[in-house]
Amino acid sequence: MSISPDSLGVALMRRLDRLALHTAVPGEMTRLYLTPEHKAAAEEVAGWMQAAGMTTRMDAACTVVGRYEGRTSDAPLLLLGSHIDTVRNGGKYDGTFGVAAAIQAVDELNRAGERLPFAIEVLAFGDEEGVRFPMTLTGSKAVAGIFDPKALDCSDGNGVSLRRALVDFGGDPDDIARLTRDPAGVLGYVELHIEQGPVLEGEDLPVGIVTAINGATRATIGVKGWAGHAGTVPMGMRRDALTAAAEMILGIERRCAGQRNLVGTVGQVDVLPGAVNVIPGEVRFTIDVRSPRDDERKAAVADIFELTDGIAARRALGVTHTVTYDVPAATCGNELADGLEAAVIRSGIRPRRLPSGAGHDGLAMVNLCPIAMLFVRCRAGVSHSPAESITAHDADVAVRVLIDFLRHFRA
Ligand code: HGY
Ligand code: MN
Ligand code: MN
Repeated sequence: MSISPDSLGVALMRRLDRLALHTAVPGEMTRLYLTPEHKAAAEEVAGWMQAAGMTTRMDAACTVVGRYEGRTSDAPLLLLGSHIDTVRNGGKYDGTFGVAAAIQAVDELNRAGERLPFAIEVLAFGDEEGVRFPMTLTGSKAVAGIFDPKALDCSDGNGVSLRRALVDFGGDPDDIARLTRDPAGVLGYVELHIEQGPVLEGEDLPVGIVTAINGATRATIGVKGWAGHAGTVPMGMRRDALTAAAEMILGIERRCAGQRNLVGTVGQVDVLPGAVNVIPGEVRFTIDVRSPRDDERKAAVADIFELTDGIAARRALGVTHTVTYDVPAATCGNELADGLEAAVIRSGIRPRRLPSGAGHDGLAMVNLCPIAMLFVRCRAGVSHSPAESITAHDADVAVRVLIDFLRHFRA
């Protein structure tokens, strides 16, 4: 669908193209938390915020915060935003779309000299994906007051602790506790995000309103056997950690495939010592289990741990499971979502409410205030991949819905 070159949608796509240049690997999209590319993206975003009439700062968890004052100094606060970190070799719209769209919307208000009955803060979180460190949502958990300081001692794959990385980046690990917002003054948190699923494309809709964000549990399973010579240890005498892990992983797939709306993924497997002629003595793999229903997710995780323990016992191996992330499902049904729906209707689009299988910063922010999300269609529902893509037309629709929502909210 064609769109005017001076439209908000085209301007938004240009911002996203620029942000995609800040990557660890030229030609692919990899921007992990507290890395030089995160710093470059944070500086770019802060520049956009200032140009849009916002004051900016970086908080102790290295979230970039842009503030656009309301009509009065004691006006309540509406939070907008999303994340600017990515997965490895991911797409350039996951997270960044929500930050750029929020800035684009404030820019429109600022150009028109408009002030609203509330102040707006745009939050560019740096750790939604949780790819560098074992836990995630560091910035949004800090704002929501649920950050666990024990996470500061978690380390990345190179042994760099979160505490060290925050200090090196210019953050302040000891000041994170002070980031907790007073809920009294906060009206809510609204995030625009790509759908990362096929529903909107399947119904030929540019945008949709999110009903809930699935709850999620991430854990690391450690399997301990005996390393040995691949040529001399008879098959019957082996304690092969990898074949045991393989049996566990297929069992996890079977358990999760057997229940509607439940998903389970093993995304990372580390095999030690990792040599062609050595029987693997140790394997560590991750699980990521999600469901809209917390009871079903918890039951599935308990069954998975029971399954891994049973296989390890039968094969005379050791097994450990460490939960690294566990967040309940977050509902988005509230006046914010109703306001987004009214704006979608005013823009002449059929309103469609849908759940989010993907996690978002709203899983943390819901502990502070009501949350709402507006999804924008993405091609074939593909995300966490270089093939992730949206159109300038849909970007234009989404940012105009956000602007219209802001102009009508609490008006
Ligand atoms: O894993 C997720 O669902 C999100 O993209 N971090
Ligand atoms: Mn995301
Ligand atoms: Mn993501």
